[in-house]
Amino acid sequence: MKRKLLGTFLSVAMMASMLTGCAGSSSAPAATETETSTEAASEEAAPAEEATEAASEEATEAASEEAPAEEATEEAAETTESAGGKVGVAMPTKDLQRWNQDGANMEEQLKAAGYEVDLQYASNDIATQVSQIENMISSGAQVLVIASIDGDSLGTVLEQAKEAEIPVIAYDRLIMNSDAVSYYATFDNYMVGTKQGEYIEKELDLKNAEGPFNIEIFTGDPGDNNARFFYGGAMDVLKPYIDEGKLVVKSGQVEFDEVATANWATETAQSRMDAIISANYADGTKLDAVLCSNDSTALGATNSLEANYTGDWPIITGQDCDVANVKNMIAGKQSMSIFKDTRDLAAKTVEMVDAIMKGTEAPVNNTETYDNGTGVIPSYLCEPVFADVNNYKELLIDSGYYTEDDLK
Ligand code: BGC
Repeated sequence: MKRKLLGTFLSVAMMASMLTGCAGSSSAPAATETETSTEAASEEAAPAEEATEAASEEATEAASEEAPAEEATEEAAETTESAGGKVGVAMPTKDLQRWNQDGANMEEQLKAAGYEVDLQYASNDIATQVSQIENMISSGAQVLVIASIDGDSLGTVLEQAKEAEIPVIAYDRLIMNSDAVSYYATFDNYMVGTKQGEYIEKELDLKNAEGPFNIEIFTGDPGDNNARFFYGGAMDVLKPYIDEGKLVVKSGQVEFDEVATANWATETAQSRMDAIISANYADGTKLDAVLCSNDSTALGATNSLEANYTGDWPIITGQDCDVANVKNMIAGKQSMSIFKDTRDLAAKTVEMVDAIMKGTEAPVNNTETYDNGTGVIPSYLCEPVFADVNNYKELLIDSGYYTEDDLK
């Protein structure tokens, strides 16, 4: 009875989400139940050695062509007549705030829809993630939802999923070079970068001002396909100004590989910024803007600036609205972030799972952009929302994403 009621509630929530689209809608239930969060927080990473062996043994088989994803989808529908069944959810790490929210939201919403959930976090270790996915396959998961650590490293294990006719949904990050991926649920990653670039363009009045202005650039992990979209979106706005000399990158580090941050780690961004400041800005030279693709890198840049930089505070961009970064926005240390409501992404993904299980059509709104090397993966792109000190209350507190206390 309780489950039925919850299911009904979720269906209504999902209908509302479908009607309003992903953007800014907070129709899906928030992941605030302590029980769920605690459960998610206590998931253990499985040992990695076996998976590594299996991965290297079968590496060459990954490209083989067999049943297309649609067949796998049909198969899952055949074996499960209605809601109910087991869903494996593989998340990259608990180190960054958003994945804890993503995992908790997925678990809560899948359970509410009547599914059994196997939620795993892999401590940003690729072999651990591979091993966890193998375990999900062997323990009877009927659909896999995977936020990959390295989009290029799952081909082999996903061959196993395909052989077992288990459909795969790439969650937030596209899984590359695997034809086992049925769907991709994410935010519009290119738009995230565009919003960051346009913010800097507007704040420095680059269309009109003479400049030159100094800027430094931080993006994400090279193994995360999203990082190239964030970087690409921002650079499509900013690169012309760099080329004409209105924006100057004193470090000389502009290309993707030069500005990437392994694992999106705050400490890595921080130490790179330490080196940049000491080589280029220690003499009082003004740094006008720091393009950071997300909040964990923005935090590293901010920490470094606080410790080493004495000039006027630069514009700093970010993404995710992590608690530490929203606090920094309130304190005037970070200029903007991008709000990606993980409740909405989870709701969309649960709709996809449900459609796969029931053999109905999964929601997609983009069939052009995300080619993973084996063809375009049908995608649902949620809309990212600009956030700053002026609208964070409405976006984050009024929608129940955070409480005021979270941000104190
Ligand atoms: C996500 C970002 C996140 C980053 C680091 C990306 O794939 O899209 O929201 O900041 O990973 O976790």
